[in-house]
Amino acid sequence: MQDLTPRQIVAELDRHIVGQKDAKRAVAIAVRNRWRRQRLPEELQAEITPKNILMIGPTGVGKTEIARRLAKLTGAPFIKIEATKFTEVGYYGRDVESMIRELVENAISLVREQERKKVEEQARARVEERLVDLLAPAPPLGFDNEQSQDAAARHERTREKMRAMLAAGELENRKVEVSIEQKSVPMMFTGGGLEQMDFDIQGMFEKIMPKHTKRREVTVAEARKILFEQECEALINQEKVHAAAIDLASNLGIIFLDEVDKITAAEGKGADVSRQGVQRDLLPIVEGTTVQTKYGYVSTDHILFVAAGAFHRSKPSDLMPELQGRFPIRVELTDLTREDFIRILREPKNALTRQYAALMKTEGVEVEFTDDAIEAMADIAFRVNQTTQNIGARRLATIMERLLEELSFEAADMGSGKVTVNAAYVNQRLGDVAEDEDLSRFIL
Ligand SMILES: Nc1ncnc2c1ncn2[C@@H]1O[C@H](COP(=O)(O)OP(=O)(O)OP(=O)(O)O)[C@@H](O)[C@H]1O
Ligand SMILES: [Mg+2]
Repeated sequence: MQDLTPRQIVAELDRHIVGQKDAKRAVAIAVRNRWRRQRLPEELQAEITPKNILMIGPTGVGKTEIARRLAKLTGAPFIKIEATKFTEVGYYGRDVESMIRELVENAISLVREQERKKVEEQARARVEERLVDLLAPAPPLGFDNEQSQDAAARHERTREKMRAMLAAGELENRKVEVSIEQKSVPMMFTGGGLEQMDFDIQGMFEKIMPKHTKRREVTVAEARKILFEQECEALINQEKVHAAAIDLASNLGIIFLDEVDKITAAEGKGADVSRQGVQRDLLPIVEGTTVQTKYGYVSTDHILFVAAGAFHRSKPSDLMPELQGRFPIRVELTDLTREDFIRILREPKNALTRQYAALMKTEGVEVEFTDDAIEAMADIAFRVNQTTQNIGARRLATIMERLLEELSFEAADMGSGKVTVNAAYVNQRLGDVAEDEDLSRFIL
């Protein structure tokens, strides 16, 4: 999962994100460097710390998108978090250490997923046996030897029959009774806030609260799912999962810190004490410290941090000098051009044009975008970005929505048909709005 070369990583990113070559290369190298480090003898491994990245670029040009795709691609534990969410320790809000706990949770689910794959087959076999048990409960033991032997033989035959019917899928709707464990967390602690409580309070509650089991009548099909979960849980060694997750998070974890420009003092009015405080709290975590989580201690030495921000009103140099120094790799993302917009509309697998076409298809309406329509949309997006505010590729979303507003409304009543969106269609629907600066400020 980690053995993609930088070139392969960039190629994968290229499938979703247009341009931004430098940023793609930087993250690709950083990811590959983790892989390289893992191949070194242990004493050398400890010496090599990741080179954190700072992505700088205007809004809507792909910063978050690169990080999001990267995470999917590498399979490494990954979280994305807005720097603005944090408050300095002691204030109400999330403390920065919570991101490490979140990263570990993410690693746990990754490891658990892998472990499940390993035990799946065994669990499935056990589930079938348990279903047979439920469908053909053992008869009470008799005193008479001969009789009970008889009964046992009969029971075995019934079980065989049930097993065969079960395998043939004939019993899916039969009702059986299963017991379901319910974890009860006291009412007053549910709702928000709980995950923000100190690291282990939730775990503590789960331990001290009595476990309720409830018996419920369900169909065999449902029971299979419930029992499967139970068997998987039983077969997976939780301690092992926790240890592996801690290991994974601390060696390969990636934390994407979005909106870092918003925690500089230059943003907002005056010197904001709390923002400076957040920066100060971030320092040790980025530098390398140990954080306690409910699964154990995590060292942050080798976690890769990718920070991103538009830095419109502030500059990276407005960050605390110590923090600046911890993000040695700077990459700039560039403004998107008209040509980029054309490619964004056309190329990615998840391109907006494809998304809308797929949505309309569910109504039986086929939508086709001609080349000149795509160019016209790109033109308008670029122009509106220039005249009003530059919101990057997000502009395409508002344009698209406006363009297809009528069709989106009507499609359900159209029955079926084909709609070709060409330049004339685009200009008819958007021309006026795009021409009028005041209008486009509101609408596009
Ligand atoms: N270069 C690009 N190629 C393809 N799609 C893009 C590109 N840049 C942005 N987009 C699309 O635009 C949307 C916004 O992009 P993204 O979330 O990456 O912005 P951002 O750079 O993080 O901006 P912000 O500073 O506001 O957080 C996404 O849905 C993404 O798909
Ligand atoms: Mg973003």
